[in-house]
Amino acid sequence: MLENDQAGRGDQIGRGYHVLVVDDDLITLRSVERILSVRGFTVTTETNGLRALSSLQTLSVDALLVDLVMPGISGIDLLKRIREMDDRMQVVMMTAFGDVDSAVTALKAGAHDFLNKPFESADALALAVYKAAEHFRLLSRARDLEKELEIHERYGDIVGSSAPMVEVYRMVESVAHSMATVLLQGESGTGKELVARAIHNRGPRARAPFIPVNCSAIPETLVEAELFGHVKGAFTGAVESRMGLFEAARGGTILLDEIGDLPLQTQVKLLRTLQDGEIKRVGSNETVRVDTRVIAASNIDLQDAMERGAFRRDLFYRLSVITISLPPLRQRPEDIPLIAYHFLKKYAARSGRSITRISLETMQALRAHSWPGNVRELENAMERAVVMAREETILPGDLPAQIADVRPSQPSAELMLDLPFAEAKKRAVEAFESAYVENMLKRAGGNVSEAARQAGLDRSNFRRIARKFGQ
Ligand SMILES: Nc1ncnc2c1ncn2[C@@H]1O[C@H](COP(=O)(O)OP(=O)(O)OP(=O)(O)O)[C@@H](O)[C@H]1O
Ligand SMILES: [Mg+2]
Repeated sequence: MLENDQAGRGDQIGRGYHVLVVDDDLITLRSVERILSVRGFTVTTETNGLRALSSLQTLSVDALLVDLVMPGISGIDLLKRIREMDDRMQVVMMTAFGDVDSAVTALKAGAHDFLNKPFESADALALAVYKAAEHFRLLSRARDLEKELEIHERYGDIVGSSAPMVEVYRMVESVAHSMATVLLQGESGTGKELVARAIHNRGPRARAPFIPVNCSAIPETLVEAELFGHVKGAFTGAVESRMGLFEAARGGTILLDEIGDLPLQTQVKLLRTLQDGEIKRVGSNETVRVDTRVIAASNIDLQDAMERGAFRRDLFYRLSVITISLPPLRQRPEDIPLIAYHFLKKYAARSGRSITRISLETMQALRAHSWPGNVRELENAMERAVVMAREETILPGDLPAQIADVRPSQPSAELMLDLPFAEAKKRAVEAFESAYVENMLKRAGGNVSEAARQAGLDRSNFRRIARKFGQ
């Protein structure tokens, strides 16, 4: 339609498209910028390949217009780099020399189109860029569909396709149909409650209640009455009989979360219930049969607690027959992009915003973070990022500072070759120092004096280097 309209004189053929124009010749740059922006394109300009590559880390552009002959990185090299980074990117090459050979080379290297300078007409230029951008959008749409499929690499609400998570799914599958008590072990935020629900929902008890109980949140004096119920007059304030959570979850599942915080005397009663399938309300001698399935969860190492005497040995053995360990997020960084996109979609939809991408640099920061709060922390970070984002793409600045501030990672050797020698050397030395200091500190268990000794440096020198890298 627009083609018949001769690239839309006056009508805004480029509206909604963002173009990056790279040319070392400022006059061409200005004139192209004007031609494209009056036709509705959003235009960013850069004067060399290196700067273009670095701005691509944070911009999301729909097409690039690149000069073939430039000092530093040539147009062809830039083209190759860009397509290595993201093979959806479409580049229109331009050259003042108009030689057929370069045109062929450019097209072979994956250029979308080739234009001679001076341009045939302003409209022809705009049309070529428009077609490249449109092509990019089509490819992106297809990629989004693929991504959606990928997101289905999950298990109900649980996202993740790493080997340890697949093992978790396998365990859930095999215990869902039994009555066996299951112990879920894992750091805070690793998804213990999510997995407990999955076990419940996939088994024959799905229609009966699932009741999560946080054992650490109930005062010690009340925990028994909460779990097992009480009769009228059992204690001060017990003005009438009440059913406990075990009974309320009859036929279903009770999740005893943070079971490590259960008082020792309640542990005895729980053990009895697990063995006999019966409870006694507080203040009563009558036993009541309950067929409530028990799932226990703990973010402290129960074996440890047992050895310290804070957790009963007999109860531990009874609970830990089937243990599912949820891996911390830092041990499965390959799940981070999947989970990040999952939450991006969730929170963007909830706030009605069309934020669909996570920039390369942001993803690097997400992958480099150690996630002490695990998936919950990642979820919070993405929720916040959706609120902070000003564009369609999540940028590092949208993340909480402690996540965005990754130490500069080791620049790839290839990229360093384009830097002036002094700069390249400085970066290589920094990369070495950072890796060395980190490794020494790790070996010395975080003890600076010991690390310095092993490195053969005096302590203050070692500290100075370590500080540079936030150690
Ligand atoms: N693999 C996952 N995929 C999607 N969401 C997840 C995943 N793991 C955890 N979550 C989400 O992260 C949050 C924390 O999960 P959950 O409450 O199950 O953790 P937890 O292990 O019980 O933590 P805590 O020990 O602090 O209680 C929830 O919002 C949950 O939906
Ligand atoms: Mg929990």
